[in-house]
Amino acid sequence: MKGQVVVVGGTKGLGKVITERFLSQGQAVTVLSRTRPEGELAYAHVPCNLETLPDPAATAAAAVAANGPVRYLVFCQRYRGSGDPWDGEMQVTVNATRQLLQAFAPHFVHEGDRAVAVVSSVYAQFVGGSQPDGYHVAKAGLNALVKYKAWELGRQGIRVNAILPLSYLKPESQHHFLGNQQLVDLYQDFVPLGRVGYAADSANLVEFLCSDKASFINGQEIFVDGGVSVVWPEELARRMAGVDK
Ligand SMILES: NC(=O)c1ccc[n+]([C@@H]2O[C@H](COP(=O)([O-])OP(=O)(O)OC[C@H]3O[C@@H](n4cnc5c(N)ncnc54)[C@H](OP(=O)(O)O)[C@@H]3O)[C@@H](O)[C@H]2O)c1
Repeated sequence: MKGQVVVVGGTKGLGKVITERFLSQGQAVTVLSRTRPEGELAYAHVPCNLETLPDPAATAAAAVAANGPVRYLVFCQRYRGSGDPWDGEMQVTVNATRQLLQAFAPHFVHEGDRAVAVVSSVYAQFVGGSQPDGYHVAKAGLNALVKYKAWELGRQGIRVNAILPLSYLKPESQHHFLGNQQLVDLYQDFVPLGRVGYAADSANLVEFLCSDKASFINGQEIFVDGGVSVVWPEELARRMAGVDK
C-alpha cells in the first residue's frame, strides 16, 4: 500500500510549491482549500473552509475516497479571512489543525514511514510587529499541539514535526521583492547565509520530514531561517546602526 499525500492549503504560496514537489515524485496528492484552482489539476481537490469546518470526518473521508489512505499529511494553510483576526487565526491555525489531525488519524497506512508536517512560523517563538498578536499566539499553540501529537500519534508510528520559516519569497510574488534592491541588500546583510529565503527552502524541509530519511525525528520545531534565530539581537542592532565594534 503506497499511501497518498494530503496538503491542507496546497493551492497557493508554500503549499503550492509543496504540492508540486510531491507530484514531481510521482505521489498521489489531495489538496484541501476553499477554492478549487481553475483548469485541469494533477491532484484531487477537496473544497473545505477551515473557518467553519462543519464536518472534519467527512472532509477526511472525501480525501481518502479520492486517493486512498494517507502516508503524509502537511498543514500549510494561512488564515486569509476578513473576520476578527484573533478568532480567525485560532480557528484556521489551531482548531482546524487539531480537528483534521483527529479526523485523519484513523486513515493512515499501517506500515512504512508515516508523518505529519506542520508549517508554523518563527513568530511561534519570537515577537514582532509585522504580524498581529493572534498570529503569534496561534503559532505558539500550534507548536504545542505538534509536540502533544508527536507523543500521541507516535504510538501509531506517525511522526509529527513543525517547520518554522522566516519570511520567504513565493513564486507568485518574488519578482516584486527581487526588484527592490534595498530589500535584497537588507536580507543579504542580516541573514547569516546572506540571502532571503524562498518557499522552496521550506519545501525542502517538508520533503525531508515526509520521507523515511527522517525516520526517527519526532516532535521537533525546526527553523528555516538562514541562521537568523541564533544571532543575539544586540549584534544586529549594532551592525544596522553602523557601530559594529
Ligand atoms: N509567507 C511567508 O513569508 C511565511 C513565513 C513564515 C511562515 N509562513 C506560514 O507558511 C504557511 C503558508 O503561508 P503562505 O503565505 O505561503 O500561504 P498562502 O499563499 O496565503 O496560501 C494559503 C493557503 O491556505 C488556503 N486557505 C486559506 N484560508 C483557508 C480556509 N479558511 N480554509 C481552507 N483553506 C484555506 C489557501 O487556499 P484558498 O484560498 O483556496 O482557501 C491557500 O492554499 C502558513 O502557515 C504561514 O503562516 C509563511
